[in-house]
Amino acid sequence: MNRNMTLAAVVAVGLVLCIAPGLFAQDSSDMCIECHRALDSEPLSRQVEQFEVDIHAAAGFGCVDCHGGDASIAGPGGMDPALGFLGAPGGEEIIAVCGRCHSDAEFMRQFNPSLRVDQEAEYWTSRHGQRLAAAGDTAVATCADCHAPHGIRPASDPKSTVYPPNVASTCGRCHDDSARMGTYDIPVDQNEKYARSVHHEALVEGGDISAPTCNDCHGNHGAAPPGISWVGNVCGQCHAVMADQYEQSRHAQTFVEMGMPGCATCHSNHEILEAGDSLLGLGDGAVCAACHTEGDPGGSAAMAMRAGIDSLTVEIDEATAVLHEAEQAGMEVSAAQADMKDSNSALVMGRAAMHSFSPDAVTEALAPGREIAGASLEKGQSALQDLRVRRMGLIASVAIILVLILALVLKIRQIGSGPADSPGRA
Ligand code: HEC
Ligand code: HEC
Ligand code: HEC
Ligand code: HEC
Ligand code: HEC
Ligand code: HEC
Ligand code: HEC
Ligand code: HEC
Ligand code: HEC
Repeated sequence: MNRNMTLAAVVAVGLVLCIAPGLFAQDSSDMCIECHRALDSEPLSRQVEQFEVDIHAAAGFGCVDCHGGDASIAGPGGMDPALGFLGAPGGEEIIAVCGRCHSDAEFMRQFNPSLRVDQEAEYWTSRHGQRLAAAGDTAVATCADCHAPHGIRPASDPKSTVYPPNVASTCGRCHDDSARMGTYDIPVDQNEKYARSVHHEALVEGGDISAPTCNDCHGNHGAAPPGISWVGNVCGQCHAVMADQYEQSRHAQTFVEMGMPGCATCHSNHEILEAGDSLLGLGDGAVCAACHTEGDPGGSAAMAMRAGIDSLTVEIDEATAVLHEAEQAGMEVSAAQADMKDSNSALVMGRAAMHSFSPDAVTEALAPGREIAGASLEKGQSALQDLRVRRMGLIASVAIILVLILALVLKIRQIGSGPADSPGRA
């Protein structure tokens, strides 16, 4: 279907539904519902039960608001195409059916002023919409594939197909299915890889709704393959510090020229794992080693940044251990222990600053942390030193007391044995 036909479909559905008598009125004696509920065929009756929880039912809409026809007619005559009955819509008809209300700002405002009204417009910019419009490809997702008509819930409802933890399986129904996706030249592993990612772990296992699922990176309705230069922006929605640093770096421009996908070059797109220091440098598992060697400026920068981060890590560990030992011994080091939080933050800042790919920036970010770790180590050591001095003092005083006691005992013995030994007594 071309764009003109799309327009024609929209207009036709609009006209047909506008003359449908039951429009926007759900009678208590809705004959569509009454008859379908009683039908002996599950594929024709299940919609009635599903529709009971549908947000459209709650808003007072009925079957006719999507399907057309006349709900006041008790027989099958209510399903006469002359009364605007559409049957089961498919392909572009679905976009037109849903878009008729959802693209009408004035109409939607009466029900829910906060709802966006750009889903249909966005949809046509997505790869799904483009293939549907250009090639009449009905294997792509339409509104009804992601929203399960008859049981549509608000997006914020945990039972909605588009509630964040449920999105991956909604998309995966097609994108995991190699039979369905076999004719396209794209992988069918996005969901499988995503399921192993730190994002999935945070969202699904950790209940952290701020972690991304498919639509956070691809758009809800504008689902498209991210453009190469666009990837930093996608990740930058949430990882703003890294994205800013990266944007200013030599890599940002070079990677565009090389056709490398920004952040995803080093972190991948779907299987993003927890990042650790081992990614940095030229050793095993270091991402830099894919393109740099010891001899080139990138390689030596990688090693220098890693060395800086490693040093601070060691200094933090040392200071923490000494402070702990002092605390266990009953010394007051809580202020120094509190300072160590800032030292740890500097380490986090240093890892983020690594995304500028400039050793100077990393050194600068780490500097306050090294200062604090150094000072805290000194405080811990001096507390332990104080402890040693006190112990020495204690030992010395105990020794003096012991000597005195001994002297006293000897003296008592001497006095006691004096008279006993004296002759003439017995
Ligand atoms: C008297 C019973 C009866 C009434 C009333 C009725 N239907 Fe049906 N409907 C059926 C039966 C039986 C079928 C399956 C046979 C057929 O397609 O005609 C069906 C099929 C359908 C289909 C599937 C069509 C397809 O192409 O797959 C839709 C959608 C539908 N009805 C919606 C409605 C709507 C909307 C109304 C109210 C305006 C309505 N029905 C009223 C009995 C009824
Ligand atoms: C919000 C719009 C909407 C409402 C309201 C709606 N339907 Fe549908 N219905 C659709 C769409 C879209 C399809 C076809 C696509 C699909 O099922 O994936 C469909 C398909 C059907 C089918 C064909 C079988 C099938 O599952 O594909 C039947 C039967 C049907 N609807 C009955 C009803 C009945 C009965 C009601 C009222 C209780 C109703 N529908 C309310 C949108 C709606
Ligand atoms: C590829 C899957 C997909 C398709 C196709 C799709 N949607 Fe959505 N839709 C979503 C997701 C995911 C959300 C959840 C957004 C969120 O959590 O903010 C959503 C949210 C919505 C919302 C809630 C408000 C909003 O925009 O966030 C409405 C209304 C909506 N969709 C209507 C539609 C309509 C109408 C169509 C067809 C023109 C459509 N959707 C097609 C996935 C899809
Ligand atoms: C007759 C007009 C109409 C039609 C047709 C219609 N909708 Fe709606 N829809 C609404 C209204 C109005 C609301 C808001 C109800 C409310 O918030 O109380 C709504 C709410 C929704 C929501 C929940 C939004 C949210 O997150 O709060 C989704 C999702 C949705 N519709 C999707 C669809 C899809 C998909 C279709 C087509 C299969 C469709 N709608 C067809 C009028 C319509
Ligand atoms: C009904 C099946 C279906 C569902 C559900 C579905 N898709 Fe798709 N998707 C397709 C098909 C088919 C294509 C076309 C493949 C192509 O052109 O390369 C596609 C293409 C895409 C593309 C473009 C890929 C490329 O590089 O060409 C992206 C991105 C995408 N889908 C994301 C999503 C997301 C995100 C969701 C869920 C919110 C989703 N899809 C839900 C069937 C589906
Ligand atoms: C953290 C962001 C992010 C998340 C979450 C995400 N994607 Fe992607 N996706 C991307 C990026 C970036 C690319 C492009 C990478 C490239 O060009 O090499 C991509 C590419 C794709 C493609 C094109 C084919 C391919 O694999 O390269 C499809 C289809 C796709 N994603 C679907 C999905 C689905 C389905 C989900 C949810 C299970 C999902 N994506 C989750 C960022 C994400
Ligand atoms: C919608 C927000 C969001 C988007 C978009 C997003 N992320 Fe994340 N990311 C998170 C959250 C939340 C976490 C988990 C926080 C945590 O555990 O530290 C996370 C964790 C990570 C981690 C692991 C951090 C660690 O401490 O080891 C990396 C690496 C990462 N994301 C890279 C990316 C990349 C690359 C992209 C783009 C392709 C991206 N993220 C897109 C929110 C997002
Ligand atoms: C050239 C490779 C490369 C690129 C490109 C890259 N990163 Fe990283 N990223 C790394 C390395 C290496 C680390 C580990 C640093 C460390 O822990 O010492 C890391 C760590 C991270 C972390 C975890 C930081 C932490 O506190 O542990 C996040 C989040 C992250 N990157 C996000 C991004 C985002 C977002 C982008 C794009 C704007 C991006 N990265 C681009 C190599 C890269
Ligand atoms: C996909 C290949 C690739 C990866 C992976 C990669 N780089 Fe690079 N890097 C390049 C290219 C290409 C240049 C540009 C050289 C130029 O512009 O002269 C560059 C330049 C640099 C520069 C600037 C060198 C100069 O000439 O001043 C630094 C520093 C750097 N990279 C560090 C890193 C670090 C650290 C990592 C790992 C976290 C890394 N790179 C990962 C390809 C890569």
